[in-house]
Amino acid sequence: MNQIADHYRHRVETSESTDFLAQVGHTLNGQAVAPAHVEAMKQQIVDVLDLAEGDHLLDLGCGNGVFTVDLVRITGSGLGLDLSPSLIELARTHHSTVGLDYVAVDLKALAANPAGLDKRFNKVLMHAALQHFQPHGFGALLDSVLDRCEPECTLFFALVPDSSKRWTFYNTLERRVRYVWERFRGRHLFGYWWSPRYVEQACRERDLEINFPPVPQILDSARYRFGIKIRRTDPQ
Ligand SMILES: C[S@@+](CC[C@H](N)C(=O)[O-])C[C@H]1O[C@@H](n2cnc3c(N)ncnc32)[C@H](O)[C@@H]1O
Repeated sequence: MNQIADHYRHRVETSESTDFLAQVGHTLNGQAVAPAHVEAMKQQIVDVLDLAEGDHLLDLGCGNGVFTVDLVRITGSGLGLDLSPSLIELARTHHSTVGLDYVAVDLKALAANPAGLDKRFNKVLMHAALQHFQPHGFGALLDSVLDRCEPECTLFFALVPDSSKRWTFYNTLERRVRYVWERFRGRHLFGYWWSPRYVEQACRERDLEINFPPVPQILDSARYRFGIKIRRTDPQ
């Protein structure tokens, strides 16, 4: 079993069956984040993607759909993709709505065109999942996603761990030592830390507009994460 899928299967098995936020790691000090924080995250997605009825939303790494369902209630159409079969099963059971489909798929294989993904999307979200991807693979990921998008489209990668702020996350000696030790063993406990530089370069090469919306201040993770908004405009 893939390590990441295994990690989330374990989270599902060790969380309450309806603790949807804990199942996908939206926790603070071991507890699901507060409703006001969830609202702030959702509102930022709606604002950055300028979501409206008639949009076709692609949610990459959608988890158990705890965010996806409310977003697709706005757009009326969407597709959630996730590596974890356990999370996709929960999404289908608890977070379905008209116009929303969920597919279990590894996004690293998106370029191979898995069945059912021939739709054209104009809004793309990856919420709190980019840490599972290696920065040097960003160009390939971007190309495989843009291949499924309309000529004019907006992408939002939210809650990306910022490599320049990693020591504000590993903020005690014990956490730092553990982090350095795990890295020495080749393990990335939290996933990968990103620099805006990787993303800027890939966007420049593809003629894409880019900016970095900050994480809403109400969230603890504003200390060490950032957002990435990418726009492709129709050359016609
Ligand atoms: C922290 S969770 C966030 C889930 C959801 N976006 C949210 O904010 O509630 C990260 C998600 O990324 C998914 N993921 C990680 N690597 C993936 C890959 N290669 N392909 C598809 N999904 C992946 C995980 O299975 C997990 O559901």
